[in-house]
Amino acid sequence: MKIGVLCSGGDAPGMNPCLRAIIRAGEKYGDSIIGIRHGYQGIFDEDIWGGTDEDGKDHKINPREVSGLTNRGGAFLNSSRCMRMHEEEGQKQAAEILTRHGFDALITIGGNGTLSGALALGSHWKGQIVGLPGTIDNDLLGSDYTIGFQTATQTGVEAVDKLRDTAGSHDMMFLVEVMGRHCGDLAAYIALAGGCELVATPEVKTDIEDIVRRLRRFKTMGKRSIIMVVAEGDDFGGANALLEALKKAGSPYEMRSVVLGHVQRGGTPAPGDRILATRLGCFAVDAIHQGATGVMAGELSGQLILSPFENVIVGRRSGAVQVTNLIDRISV
Ligand code: F6P
Repeated sequence: MKIGVLCSGGDAPGMNPCLRAIIRAGEKYGDSIIGIRHGYQGIFDEDIWGGTDEDGKDHKINPREVSGLTNRGGAFLNSSRCMRMHEEEGQKQAAEILTRHGFDALITIGGNGTLSGALALGSHWKGQIVGLPGTIDNDLLGSDYTIGFQTATQTGVEAVDKLRDTAGSHDMMFLVEVMGRHCGDLAAYIALAGGCELVATPEVKTDIEDIVRRLRRFKTMGKRSIIMVVAEGDDFGGANALLEALKKAGSPYEMRSVVLGHVQRGGTPAPGDRILATRLGCFAVDAIHQGATGVMAGELSGQLILSPFENVIVGRRSGAVQVTNLIDRISV
């Protein structure tokens, strides 16, 4: 089979080992796996990794070309956010180009936007499409974890550990902003693993009066330093605005804010992300050979499963709420 593969949206640590697995699993089937660079934009630009020969034959990525990708962060194939895939005209055009190149199937690695694009493309293209959850956000139903989430959590925890040293030395409070516009999993897991006192996520109302009450209690309990993790998508839109609101409401701690930003997306993938990426990459190739289309491959309770695109891009996960409750229980 001729199978295209692309990475789209924000890069996530683990996209590369995923690509490596797809190419090597495909090789065993005798497939031609073709890399499309820069996400969906690469379809419009006909930007094939390794190029297209004069006779129109697209370069097939061979297994040796992906050696050493296991521990490489970023997206080897490059990535992008492609606005044209939001429009029906663009989706139709992408379908025509894929057909002209003779693709039988497409594997897309990315987050919510990537899977929405795959869903839309599927109504205009006859080829099979299988998506893989590649995003640090952990915001997709259909997989307990997304590829990249564990590494980004580790990066956040390392930052919190360092800030804790300074917070403790200077008797102060840090508000640490992490990514997550719509999903607070990253914030909540970093806060839990980092032993933080407070967390703000999009899933739970950020109640200023309540936070100040807790801070006063912490103070009387003898807590000298506080770390609060704030998702960029909390009610206040992140750490800087929240800090100002807490100051006005009478926070008893000297406060500073730190925005981790894109540092969370890069770096060597953690073993858990490499393993998940490899399992899902192989599973996606198997699924294509079994005729699957319009589905995302994920892992739920240790089982590899396929879920229709429309089921994974809607709805909210409940992880952040549960973890927030756990943090509250042990914040004494
Ligand atoms: O979806 C991944 C992500 O890193 C989000 O956590 C974040 O809100 C967004 O991408 C940032 O996107 P950009 O790099 O386009 O600003």
